[in-house]
Amino acid sequence: MSKPSYSKGLVGVIAGESAICTVGTGQGLNYRGYNVNDLAEHSTFEEVSHLLLYGHLPNKRQLEQYIRRLANFRQLSTAMRAVLEQLPGSSHPMDIMRTAASVMGSFEPEDENPNNEKQRNNQWECGDRLIAIFGPALLYWYQYHKNGTKIETRTGPNDTVAQNFVKLLLQTDNPDPNMVRAVDVSLILYAEHDFAASTFGAIVTTSTLSDVYSSVCTAIGTLRGPLHGGANEAAYRLISQFKTPDEAEQGLLKLLKEKKIVMGFGHRVYRKGDPRSPIVRDWARKLSEIINTPYAKNLYAVAERMEQVMMREKKMFTNLDFYASIVYHFCHIPTDFFTPVFVIARTSGWVSHIIEQRQDNKLMRPISIYTGPDPAKTPYVPIDKRLERSKL
Ligand SMILES: CC(C)(COP(=O)(O)OP(=O)(O)OC[C@H]1O[C@@H](n2cnc3c(N)ncnc32)[C@H](O)[C@@H]1OP(=O)(O)O)[C@@H](O)C(=O)NCCC(=O)NCCS
Repeated sequence: MSKPSYSKGLVGVIAGESAICTVGTGQGLNYRGYNVNDLAEHSTFEEVSHLLLYGHLPNKRQLEQYIRRLANFRQLSTAMRAVLEQLPGSSHPMDIMRTAASVMGSFEPEDENPNNEKQRNNQWECGDRLIAIFGPALLYWYQYHKNGTKIETRTGPNDTVAQNFVKLLLQTDNPDPNMVRAVDVSLILYAEHDFAASTFGAIVTTSTLSDVYSSVCTAIGTLRGPLHGGANEAAYRLISQFKTPDEAEQGLLKLLKEKKIVMGFGHRVYRKGDPRSPIVRDWARKLSEIINTPYAKNLYAVAERMEQVMMREKKMFTNLDFYASIVYHFCHIPTDFFTPVFVIARTSGWVSHIIEQRQDNKLMRPISIYTGPDPAKTPYVPIDKRLERSKL
């Protein structure tokens, strides 16, 4: 056996085979072969979710059925509502997402034989249920703790995930179609990205033959950090600190001088640019023009200047999270809901990978290079001989 190689952060390590997505292969970003630009322009999130989970784009009839299937799953159980009411209103919304997945796993566990398509709550149904329930659970918790209202989470039977989300968030029956479509496109762009950290987390959990809900809980915890999904929230907090483009330029130069990481820029796999970024930037610009206030135009101008400065100074490009944060802000989504929206979208990708991993499973179990005390010089110390020591 050849000597195992070491790559800090698993940079460049191939950890498996996958037929779901191309990232950094030189072919552009594709979901099951379909280019993401085409999907973002012509499809809805439901088409993409169906593509990822079921392996093919639905035809018109299948799409209508799939939209109704997800809509049917939006009613929260009594148990789910009780838990959401008990959780503190001060929780981070990502805690709500992780807890919602856990509650589903406890009250509606995955079937013993998840591959059996005929059985209820097989792995596909778990995926669909999670995609359907995340937005309603989050917004039930939000409206309950913010306004004291117990909202009905089912909207129309033909409402898409984006429509349902915006309707519940803004408590309106007639949301702005541009905002709904902007959210819908963002869900498409966030839906899948190969072995990103959260997906890999889900795969590791799956590889132990755990259940879908546990794998999704792992993924949510992994997505939360600002180097991954939490970057959209962190990016908006940074952008919104600057009142003008000039102030943004000065602030950014200062951050770079201090060698700070600027959220919403860079990527582990992409080296020349994130193909999702121009699509979401167009939506940010379009919404700023539709809103057409000095505030909205200035916010977009600040973001644009930051993009120019990072390219000029560091040859660094915006990733999806940067302009997605502006899009979400323009859609009145609270800043700490940005990463939860990412959860709703990426659940389709996570569950596709969970299903794929199960088809040809091998336990994920890497090894480390040991750097601890020399065992030959570390004799056992009986408890009454141990000195008082602080942590390592
Ligand atoms: C995504 C990310 C974690 C990738 O990390 P990585 O692959 O380990 O980064 P790289 O190896 O490409 O970094 C190369 C250099 O660029 C710097 N760099 C990378 N991203 C940077 C950023 N966003 N701002 C400033 N400097 C950055 C690194 O500090 C490193 O500098 P060094 O060589 O002086 O140590 C990183 O770019 C980052 O933290 N970005 C901000 C968070 C974010 O937007 N995450 C969402 C990703 S979709």
